[in-house]
Amino acid sequence: MANATPLVTLPRVQAHRGAKGVRPENTMASLREALDQGVCWTEFDVKLSKDGVPIIYHDQDLKRTSGIDALVKDHSFAELGEFEAGAWFDEKFRGEKIPSLEEFLLFHIEHNLHPNIELKPSDGEEAETSRKVVELLDRVWPKHLDKPLFSSFKLKSLEVVRDLAPDHPRGLLLYDDITGWQENAKRLECSAIHLWHKMYTPELVNEIKQAGYATATYTVNDVDRGVELVAMGVDSIITDFPGDMIAAIGD
Ligand code: G3P
Ligand code: CA
Repeated sequence: MANATPLVTLPRVQAHRGAKGVRPENTMASLREALDQGVCWTEFDVKLSKDGVPIIYHDQDLKRTSGIDALVKDHSFAELGEFEAGAWFDEKFRGEKIPSLEEFLLFHIEHNLHPNIELKPSDGEEAETSRKVVELLDRVWPKHLDKPLFSSFKLKSLEVVRDLAPDHPRGLLLYDDITGWQENAKRLECSAIHLWHKMYTPELVNEIKQAGYATATYTVNDVDRGVELVAMGVDSIITDFPGDMIAAIGD
C-alpha cells in the first residue's frame, strides 16, 4: 500500500447508529445507550442540512423516522430541529431530535468514544459533505486524539477526504458487489474494507488482509454469526446490539 495510507486498528465491536436495536437510531439516546453498553467505537451516518450543517441521519428523506414527506437536504438545520426523531421507535423516546455532528463529536470527546463517521451524502452532495465534515473536525476534534475513521459507499466522498484530510483512516464500504474493490481501495488510500457480512468467506477475508487492509462487517445482530466472522479473521463487527456482541467476542 502507499505510504500515505493511515494505519488503523479496528475494535472488535462497533455500535451501529448508536445502539439501534434498543433506541431510535442516530439520536443522542442511541449514542448514550451505546456508551452504557460498553462500546468504544460507534458508527453513524452523516449528511448535510440545506444550510450546510453536518447532521446525523441515515435516509435521504424524513418519512421513516419523522413522518415527513420531504428530503433532508431541503430543510435547514433549524427546521430539522423541529422534527420528531424518537417517537417512531417508541413513544417513550418522543422528544429525541436529529443531532448535529458537532453534538455527536463533543459527546465522543467527553466520553472517550471513537467515531466511525459514515459519509452518507444526499444525492449530488458527495464532495460538499466531505468538505464540511473535515472543516468541522479541524475545528472541534482534539489534535492529541486518534483521528476519526471515515467510511463511505461513495467513492467521491472518500476521494475528497483523501485529498483534504489524508491522515484520517478511510474504510471502503461495500455491499453485494465487490467488483473493483482492490483498485478503489488502493486509489483512495483506504485502511479498511467494510463489507456486508454475507459476502465474507474465509478466502476473501484472507485476500483482503493479505493486501494490507483491516476488515469490518455490518450489520451483524446474531451473536453466533459474530463469533463465526471473528473466527474467519474479520476484525470488527458493526452491530445494533453492541453489549451482547461484546459479551461474546470482547470489545
Ligand atoms: O457502516 C456500515 C453500515 O452502517 C452501512 O449500511 O445502510 O446501515 O448505513 P447502513
Ligand atoms: Ca451507516
